[in-house]
Amino acid sequence: MRKQLIDRYGRVARDLRVSLTDKCNLRCQYCMPADGLHWIPKPEILTDDEVKHLLNLAVDRLGINQIRFTGGEPLLRPGLTSIIADMAERHPTVEMSLTTNAIGLDKTAPALVEAGLKRINVSLDTVDRDTFTKLARRDRLQDTLTGIHAAAEAGLDPVKINTVLMPDINDAEAPDLLRFALHHGYELRFIEQMPLDADGIWKRDTMITAADILNRLQQEFDLTPATEPRGSAPAEKWLVNGGPATVGIIGTVTRPFCGDCDRTRLTADGQIRNCLFAQGETDLRDALRAGHTDDELADIWAQAMWGKAAGAGIDDPSFLKPARPMSAIGG
Ligand code: 5AD
Ligand code: SF4
Repeated sequence: MRKQLIDRYGRVARDLRVSLTDKCNLRCQYCMPADGLHWIPKPEILTDDEVKHLLNLAVDRLGINQIRFTGGEPLLRPGLTSIIADMAERHPTVEMSLTTNAIGLDKTAPALVEAGLKRINVSLDTVDRDTFTKLARRDRLQDTLTGIHAAAEAGLDPVKINTVLMPDINDAEAPDLLRFALHHGYELRFIEQMPLDADGIWKRDTMITAADILNRLQQEFDLTPATEPRGSAPAEKWLVNGGPATVGIIGTVTRPFCGDCDRTRLTADGQIRNCLFAQGETDLRDALRAGHTDDELADIWAQAMWGKAAGAGIDDPSFLKPARPMSAIGG
């Protein structure tokens, strides 16, 4: 039977973010501690076949029409191409995207395109080598840049760039990043830093807000609100110097868009999260492995979404960080 992932507030989830691994080859300060984390043990990670099964179920029975693959770093998952190919074959109208740091993408982009991937979101927080090494704790700016350009060359379009600005690390670089994106025809979006890092370094009073970013960019660019409605897309978009290029600013903390949220999440170990910031999870993996039918699995997923909270409440003093860090939830 076909259902929808609807919650008590009438929101319908159609966008599934699926984390394919909690591992990563970078250690971005806003995400992971320097020494990494205790990785999820392999037997707990969904197999490629299990991922395919659950993705098909989400599309066939739960009305999902967009799938974003995340991590950790999804390119580290050997089965990525096969998972994408399987989806594209069975569900050609489902939009698929990948959120990646682009390291190694020069080698895999053509195969990903061949498999059916159309677009990509790359995390890039700086175009300065020293700043990259400090922020991501790895000297790999060049690998990331090579990967981004290879993605564009392989035909992934649009290439979106996600940037998180951190106080006193890369916050002065916003205009440089926009110039970089404009020059190459990439779509840049700034994302407010969220309290999801494993080290707890996020501070409400020093975080770089959407308003700060806008102010800084307006010193060097002419920004006018883009007319298209924002809908459930969290980015507020601005035309740069009259357009057609745009820049987006995602104010998750100071301008929350929870009322329009259309997401559901599946972690690499098969847990449903109804919100990035949810305190609880629902185990779909054990239900799948125990042999529950697709109808039963769909019911479990629908129930998990029904309990979604009205908002994440990050700007509320009582806000509690989720137990999992970002790298194990997926962006
Ligand atoms: N705040 C905001 N964005 C984050 N990301 C990872 N951790 C955080 C955080 N604490 C972003 C990455 C990537 C996406 C998966 O999520 O930069 O673009
Ligand atoms: Fe890796 Fe992305 Fe986390 Fe950076 S933000 S450590 S690239 S998962």
